[in-house]
Amino acid sequence: MTATFNAHCRTACLFLLTVSLLLSLSACSDTEREQTIVIRFPHVTAPATPKGQAAERFRQRVAERFGDRVKVEVFPSGQLMNDDDSLDALAFGEIQMIAVSLSKFDRLTQVFQVFDLPFLFPDIEAVEAFQHGPTGQEMLAVLEDRGFLGLAYWHNGMKQFGAPRPLLQPGDAAGLNFRIQESDVLQAQMQAIGGIPQKMALAEVYQALQTGAIDAQENTWSNMFSQKFYEVQAAITETNHGYLGYLLAVNPTFWNGLPGEIRDELELILEQVTQEVNEESEQINQRARGLVEDSGRTEIITPGEQDLQTWRTAMQPVWAQFEPGIGPHIVQAARQAATSKTQDP
Ligand code: LMR
Repeated sequence: MTATFNAHCRTACLFLLTVSLLLSLSACSDTEREQTIVIRFPHVTAPATPKGQAAERFRQRVAERFGDRVKVEVFPSGQLMNDDDSLDALAFGEIQMIAVSLSKFDRLTQVFQVFDLPFLFPDIEAVEAFQHGPTGQEMLAVLEDRGFLGLAYWHNGMKQFGAPRPLLQPGDAAGLNFRIQESDVLQAQMQAIGGIPQKMALAEVYQALQTGAIDAQENTWSNMFSQKFYEVQAAITETNHGYLGYLLAVNPTFWNGLPGEIRDELELILEQVTQEVNEESEQINQRARGLVEDSGRTEIITPGEQDLQTWRTAMQPVWAQFEPGIGPHIVQAARQAATSKTQDP
């Protein structure tokens, strides 16, 4: 009798245990299903720059589309970390998205050096033609094995020189200490005009200019305005000698592990935001140029075609120095796209 009772008890207990286990399992998978996917996205420029605008627009669109399901956390102006640290943090999966200047991938690959070759791209339209062509598109995936899956190129714009004196000719740059991004091509470019290059993070540049630790720098109008470099540079020469743009990259393990339908939609949103802000980037830079001019704090020098030619000639040797490392076919495709402004075949 007691034995039968105990057997019934065990069966009832087992039944209850199984039911509660099943309930907790289903509750657990519900919780998992509801868990918010967080995309941490630090970057170093001000919200008003092309990158700042694109990152914020991406955040907004994702919030509109996904509510609490997917959350993009944007940290502008180097609030969370500088670019160098963000490269490590992305590869280790501590953050999920970056838009770091193509110049700063120098320590990981030489192929992006093509974007730093001085005077290779006459304008953003030429850069677009190359990036949208097959070579530019293939390059997006070149660092996937190293922890960076490129999804898009984002523009900032063309670079100008700021200095403590008007730089009319390349010779005027002789002996000046120039801040540069982490790039060997930019180092060679500054040496080619007699400058002394110093690699430095963006956040340190204003103070370095102010205290005289460096004399000069190159950057886009939107960066020079938002970082207030124009306040501590007597002159800015509008050479448009180089391109500043970004690789919008994600951690491949994170990205490929997302539910397929979410990943597809995020990619679609990114594509739309990329197209919109890339189209607006030139306008954003021109607006910043206007504000720099209106400030009256610096002289803007616009070299004529003859003067520009002297800058081109002085910097030209840099191409031959870096072409073998970049890959001649890449440089060739870029040159072709730049001259014809159509996608390389
Ligand atoms: C710089 O360091 O000057 C740029 O890479 C900053 C940026 O992200 O535009």
